[in-house]
Amino acid sequence: MPPRVPPQWHSRLRMPPPSPLSGRPWPLSLVWSAPLSPRFEILSLVGGSISTSASLMCRLGRAVCRVAKVTERDRRHWDDRYRIRTPIRSEDVCLPGPFTDHADRFPTAGAALELACGTGAVSVWLAGRGLNVRGLDISEVAIAQARKLAQDNEVGHSCQFDVVDLDAGLPSGVQADVICCFHFRDRRLDRAIIDRLAPGGLLAISVLSEVGAPPGRYRAGRGELTDAFAELHRIAAGEGGGRAWLLASKIASE
Ligand SMILES: C[S@@+](CC[C@H](N)C(=O)[O-])C[C@H]1O[C@@H](n2cnc3c(N)ncnc32)[C@H](O)[C@@H]1O
Repeated sequence: MPPRVPPQWHSRLRMPPPSPLSGRPWPLSLVWSAPLSPRFEILSLVGGSISTSASLMCRLGRAVCRVAKVTERDRRHWDDRYRIRTPIRSEDVCLPGPFTDHADRFPTAGAALELACGTGAVSVWLAGRGLNVRGLDISEVAIAQARKLAQDNEVGHSCQFDVVDLDAGLPSGVQADVICCFHFRDRRLDRAIIDRLAPGGLLAISVLSEVGAPPGRYRAGRGELTDAFAELHRIAAGEGGGRAWLLASKIASE
């Protein structure tokens, strides 16, 4: 039976994707799509539900492939950068600039998590202070260098470095007494970072900022860090010269 499709949709009539088994279009099926919003389309089926699921699967597959391509490009980009960089030396194991004045605030035991840890200088510093550290980064090259740095500084036993794509969110893990994130900004992680902090836990974060620099995709807007982590207790913060940083702790419940 010919499909009863309103005339205004005729231009949108199209054949469903070919069957993965036969390579030929699904029999007796035509799919038409009506955009409800720019991002959402409802699929109406004429000829059997198989073609709808096949079409949806193909769309989903294409979206997944696009995300995977971006991730792969990022990974290669960072791998290449770390490959040509001189590896961090033991003398470079330290907190970044604005936090050095607050080094005594960092606990000397418990669990620490470093996001986008790069070659692990901060993670190794935290481990040297007595914390058990987990460092996460998308670059395999950086993670290999971080593991070596930890071994060279005799804290390999208290460091775990994992290749992780933070685009997929924060991987599960124990509550952290310290979370560090330097020179990496992903607003989607803000909630998860707050939730992952143990009561009384410390957050140290620094990012590129639009304050004192031209706007840019990876730069935080004025007040962005303090706003994003407003529910934490602010210990110290700064903004200017193209950088913003924040040291804050999670208020321990009574
Ligand atoms: C500017 S570097 C900062 C490295 C280190 N935190 C530091 O301060 O030296 C940014 C880091 O983010 C990592 N990165 C970028 N995209 C990522 C992602 N989707 N998931 C995890 N790490 C990522 C890169 O591999 C790189 O090590």
